[in-house]
Amino acid sequence: MQEYLLEFEQVYYTYPGLQQPTLNGLSMKIPSGKKCALIGQNGCGKTTMFLLANGLYKPNSGIIKWCGKPLIYNRKELSQIRQDIGLIFQDPEQQIVASTVAEDISYGLCNLGLPTAEIKSRVEQILIEFELTNLANKPVHHLSLGQKKRVSIADVMVLKPQLLMLDEPTAYLDIKHTRNLMKTLQKIHQHGNTLLMATHDLDLVYRWADWVFVMDQGKLIIEGTPDKVFSQRKILEDLDLGLPLIYEILFSDLSPQEEIIIERFRAKIFKYL
Ligand SMILES: Nc1ncnc2c1ncn2[C@@H]1O[C@H](COP(=O)(O)OP(=O)(O)O)[C@@H](O)[C@H]1O
Ligand SMILES: [Mg+2]
Repeated sequence: MQEYLLEFEQVYYTYPGLQQPTLNGLSMKIPSGKKCALIGQNGCGKTTMFLLANGLYKPNSGIIKWCGKPLIYNRKELSQIRQDIGLIFQDPEQQIVASTVAEDISYGLCNLGLPTAEIKSRVEQILIEFELTNLANKPVHHLSLGQKKRVSIADVMVLKPQLLMLDEPTAYLDIKHTRNLMKTLQKIHQHGNTLLMATHDLDLVYRWADWVFVMDQGKLIIEGTPDKVFSQRKILEDLDLGLPLIYEILFSDLSPQEEIIIERFRAKIFKYL
């Protein structure tokens, strides 16, 4: 298996009309099979990174590689890259195109020109996997936000991507829908997919991610396991990113006895974060 699925090497990207580059020499490698989190202040370039990763924008300089090979910006290669790398937009409305759930899920498959029988069976299977069968014929605009989010993930997963990128997927979701979403992502990961999630929820990052990327002003600042990243408190505070709650507690002035108690209850505390 390829060690890294997606690689950015010294990537620069400036939006037309802007003076400053939004991606400013970004180098990062997404390891295969991991649950990765991407954090950084608003405007640091997370969404832009996603849009370049699946070829919606092209770097001004630098290289983006998929499975070790540089992206090629022609129609055929881009269509393949968009099957291999699924992107879930922050706002599901941006993703949903058809009127019913089943039609919406079949849309990408129809675009690939697959035989009708295969489209039908893949849609049926994904409806079951995402517990959407009961909603198959429901108009998408009648769904709750949590349901729309599930549909937007099903839309992408039906194309069988290897890497799933999610842009702030828990934004606007309540606790129940966030938990459902995390269960869905757990299942997707168990099927062997690699995940990359941009988020501001550091507690979620701490208990969910295997690997964390921290971006600032279009560059990668730190990466590593959650423990390694969040132990670099000074850097994160300078970036105004804060820390997961457990770290706030651990790094406050604790007596030795309090420290022992916190260590003992660490696992339990995480369950409730
Ligand atoms: N379509 C666009 N045109 C011009 N500037 C943009 C556009 N999209 C984003 N930007 C700018 O690029 C910077 C990074 O944005 P973005 O990638 O959305 O950051 P993040 O997702 O980390 O919040 C911001 O300063 C933003 O204003
Ligand atoms: Mg964003």
